[in-house]
Amino acid sequence: MSVCIRIQPDILNIPISERERIITACHGRERLADLASGNPDMAMPDFVVEQLRACMESGYARYTDYYGLPELRAKLSQQLKGEWRITADPETEIVITSGVQEGLYVVMRAVLHSGDQVLIPSPHYGNYYQNAIACGAKPVLVPLDEKEGFVPDLDRLEKAVTSRTRALVFCNPSNPLGVVWPREILDGLATLAIRHNLIVLVDEIYHDFVYSVQPITSIATLPGMAERTFTFGGFSKSHLMMGLRIGFVVGPSEPMIAVKNLHYCITLCPSSVAQVAALAALDCPKEQLELVFHEFRQRVEMLHRGVATIDGVSCVKPEGGFYLFPNMSRFGLSSIDLAVQLIERAGVITLPGTEFGPYGEGYLRLSVCATREQLEEGLARLAEFADNWA
Ligand SMILES: Cc1ncc(COP(=O)(O)O)c(C=O)c1O
Repeated sequence: MSVCIRIQPDILNIPISERERIITACHGRERLADLASGNPDMAMPDFVVEQLRACMESGYARYTDYYGLPELRAKLSQQLKGEWRITADPETEIVITSGVQEGLYVVMRAVLHSGDQVLIPSPHYGNYYQNAIACGAKPVLVPLDEKEGFVPDLDRLEKAVTSRTRALVFCNPSNPLGVVWPREILDGLATLAIRHNLIVLVDEIYHDFVYSVQPITSIATLPGMAERTFTFGGFSKSHLMMGLRIGFVVGPSEPMIAVKNLHYCITLCPSSVAQVAALAALDCPKEQLELVFHEFRQRVEMLHRGVATIDGVSCVKPEGGFYLFPNMSRFGLSSIDLAVQLIERAGVITLPGTEFGPYGEGYLRLSVCATREQLEEGLARLAEFADNWA
């Protein structure tokens, strides 16, 4: 007898990415220059590796406190206060999650109701849209314009607010855009959120990678915002701990009770050894982290210099994070077709801008996670492809 397993409709509605076409185009091709990966080529800082090794040798692999090791939450709370200017009670306002990815899901699932509208300035990190759908909510994309430096137009954003709008979700610095929204824009977003009683979810996973002179402002630190903001951070980028899967959420204590319950249902607790590594990461000597920061900064500058000189291509100068978002519309192809052609004809892997929503059409996302040699090779191939384009 065949069994009819009916999938929950919201889950069926999660959009499927076009990445399959990229993966298929790569099959059987060698020596591709990878300008797509979000996985940096560098290893974790030595200090973290040593502490992790000691932890493994001790055989420590117990379940931990469900919401994260108390000493990790306590130390994180101190660091947030010092460097992010966020005040968070480690007992009630911080949860350690299995990466930011888990944090985003549990918070959205806990606070969004079926039919709620979620404002997402776009191009955006795809997971915000997918999570909103998975939660039965309605993502409302509000376009960011290259001519405006991909900084939100507050009037445009406000016009998208309706009586059903419940939340605003964004990341700063941005993946995929590489931009860092300045203080005055965050002030404007805070005013808008307060005026319309919105919850704000801000993904600051690239908080430690700001290359412009301005320090980044966490929106949770602005007046009236702590009680309505969930801030997400993690160790995947700052300490190159992508595969260890540790992130955190900071939010107001009352709704965090629901977030904690859901987090417990999903993971019980994050990996104990990865939490020990995260604790070590918070004590990591500054010099080891500065090496990583400077390497990324130089790579971003190098790739931007190269891309901006390709004929007919424009690119907003990245001020943070690992990515560039050049406008490739001069080729007259859809982003996905261009990305496939670049693999097949030039041996360069990129991501189509449409991976980050429909407003990414005409753009590609380039990443600086590959080695400098690969980046230089990728750039040279891109330039040659552009020169030979009819
Ligand atoms: C903007 C953004 N948020 C979240 C994530 C996922 O982070 P984590 O590894 O902590 O789950 C990524 C990963 O690339 C990202 O770019």
